[in-house]
Amino acid sequence: MSTSITWLGHNCWTIETASHLILLDPFLDDSPTAPLKAADVKPNFILVSHGHADHVGDTVAIARRTQATVLANFEVGQWLARQDVASSQIVGMNPGGGVQQPFGHVKFTIAHHSSSMPDGSYGGVPGGFLLTLAGARIYFACDTALFFDMKLIGSGGLDLAVLPIGDLFTMGPEDSIDAIKLLNPKRVAPCHYNTWPPIAQDAHAWAGKVRSHTAAEPILLQPGDKIAL
Ligand code: NI
Ligand code: MN
Repeated sequence: MSTSITWLGHNCWTIETASHLILLDPFLDDSPTAPLKAADVKPNFILVSHGHADHVGDTVAIARRTQATVLANFEVGQWLARQDVASSQIVGMNPGGGVQQPFGHVKFTIAHHSSSMPDGSYGGVPGGFLLTLAGARIYFACDTALFFDMKLIGSGGLDLAVLPIGDLFTMGPEDSIDAIKLLNPKRVAPCHYNTWPPIAQDAHAWAGKVRSHTAAEPILLQPGDKIAL
């Protein structure tokens, strides 16, 4: 079975390999666009990009129920431990660091954003994830501004880049075109838009600009849609 990914709205994704289910930024029960609830998912691994509530989401409930391994920045990991997620489940990371896991390699990449926890406590620094799986290299930028070092992240080749296009809290559609030029992925999928009115965007207009200004193929998904890699 090849690797597939499913958009669960906002910045929530599942990555399904032949042997594992990985859940990124599980914002489900409080998300206006998620097609399923936290109780419906049974991941082996959870990746958390930063401390904001629309990314930490249902991590605590899902981690406690499934015993999934959680990879997050160090301080998000400490906060999860204070919510009674077992320390043995938590892998604390920091930008530039990578770690081998049973499904592949995970690198925590830089992001320009903020990262307070839902209760206001310190949430370390935000990040993105570069995943090297058996058959694919995927970059999830997560919440970030455009930054020139995306050139380095893309230098090893990317099968898919997932970029925010909502503007206001992250890069918007115009900056995402520059990000795609720096990353040079084969395919690119947008996220972190149309969850709420302040981050409404015309994804079809964005896809047209991707086609005319970059070499990447835009992939437009609805929440719940799955694509093979
Ligand atoms: Ni955020
Ligand atoms: Mn966010």
